[in-house]
Amino acid sequence: MTGRTFPEQFVWGTATASYQIEGAVREDGRGPSIWDTFSHTPGRTYNGDTGDVACDHYHRWRDDVQLMRDLGVNAYRFSVAWPRVRPNGGGAINSAGLDFYDRLVDALLAARITPFVTLYHWDLPQALQDRGGWAHRDTAEMFVEYADIVTRRLGDRVKHWITHNEPWVASLIGHFEGIHAPGLRDLRVALQAAHHLLLSHGMAASALRSNSTHCRVGITLNLTPVKPASDSQADIEAAQRYDGFHNRWFLDPVFGRGYPEDVQAFYGNMMPEMQPGDAAAIAAPIDFLGINYYFPTIVRAARDATPVACETLTTDEYAAAGYTTTAMGWPVDAGALLELLTRIQNDYAPPAIYITENGAAFDDQLVNGEVHDTQRIAYLSDHLGAARDALDVGVPLWGYFAWSLMDNFEWSFGYSKRFGIVYTDYATQQRIPKASARWYQQVVGGGGI
Ligand code: FCB
Repeated sequence: MTGRTFPEQFVWGTATASYQIEGAVREDGRGPSIWDTFSHTPGRTYNGDTGDVACDHYHRWRDDVQLMRDLGVNAYRFSVAWPRVRPNGGGAINSAGLDFYDRLVDALLAARITPFVTLYHWDLPQALQDRGGWAHRDTAEMFVEYADIVTRRLGDRVKHWITHNEPWVASLIGHFEGIHAPGLRDLRVALQAAHHLLLSHGMAASALRSNSTHCRVGITLNLTPVKPASDSQADIEAAQRYDGFHNRWFLDPVFGRGYPEDVQAFYGNMMPEMQPGDAAAIAAPIDFLGINYYFPTIVRAARDATPVACETLTTDEYAAAGYTTTAMGWPVDAGALLELLTRIQNDYAPPAIYITENGAAFDDQLVNGEVHDTQRIAYLSDHLGAARDALDVGVPLWGYFAWSLMDNFEWSFGYSKRFGIVYTDYATQQRIPKASARWYQQVVGGGGI
């Protein structure tokens, strides 16, 4: 097929996150994180699963770099675990923790794989949670210190930095819906946490730039195109509110517009406390926007007391509406990715965009040592097609990271959901490339689909 190749300098990667793959939670001086606490609290995760061992990547990282070398990817997005670097959040620095990432970065560079490092992918040191966590302004200050420490050590070699992964999830799912650590259910606290996450992003940017010369700084947001369930005025307004709640609440301040007024009006006295200068700090210039895209959201008006008075379709309703759904119950819609990318380009015009996560969980079966995950190949292929279409219409899309390199600890779903292009046999820690890994290898090798 013509026109399906990607620019030569396109970044092809896979992505992971520290707590989801590393294990070794008590080794070499690592302190506990809120996800250790949460996953060890009965009833919080599927089957009581924890990240204690996960993919044992902390010990198997050399093999995992080799796995990526075999895949032929030219980039790897991973996160640094704050509690390995500073076990108590603040105070003493644990050099053994930094050493781990130092070695990993060197091995990646030797394999010609560019590291994209996320500083915060949700594993806040528990000691900071004990003092109020992200709802407490000090945590933003501590994040800047942590970012400074990490970039002093790695900033000579790592040139792509992502401050935060999905602050919407970290704040709203963690502090309002209570499904993620720290498991709170309070909208006011959640919005305060969101504000401090955003603030810490902007405040850290200058430390990153001075410690890591000529680096590129970005933030990763999980964005979803929102559609009304019907053409009723109530549903159309609900969709606008949901878009504000989920997307614009984070996009607008990062791109210098402050919090969207329509949503502020809705939140009323739930609005977070802010200080003069916060809006400007959050709007520190970025070099790229990271977008995690999984699914679109269809919304209808609701009378119940959800934060923005709307509800999203259930998985059954998506299926009834004709969508394929994944093992997560998420609707599949590659076309919505094109809509999302063009909308972001039109409304915010970031200098560059990377798709920092995209992928799907399906009920993979290991049969005779092989996993024929044709649904995942279709998902990835269709979404890469949409990404290619976005390039055609002028979206500055610079790269794509498949979520995930390998099956891993899927947060409250534990090990029950498999997103990897490589199958993780948790009993033996064997990594078994799925058919999708072979397919991705060809895509990457050929520079297109
Ligand atoms: C995203 C997370 C990532 C992974 C995928 C499936 O929200 O950033 O860690 O869990 O979802």
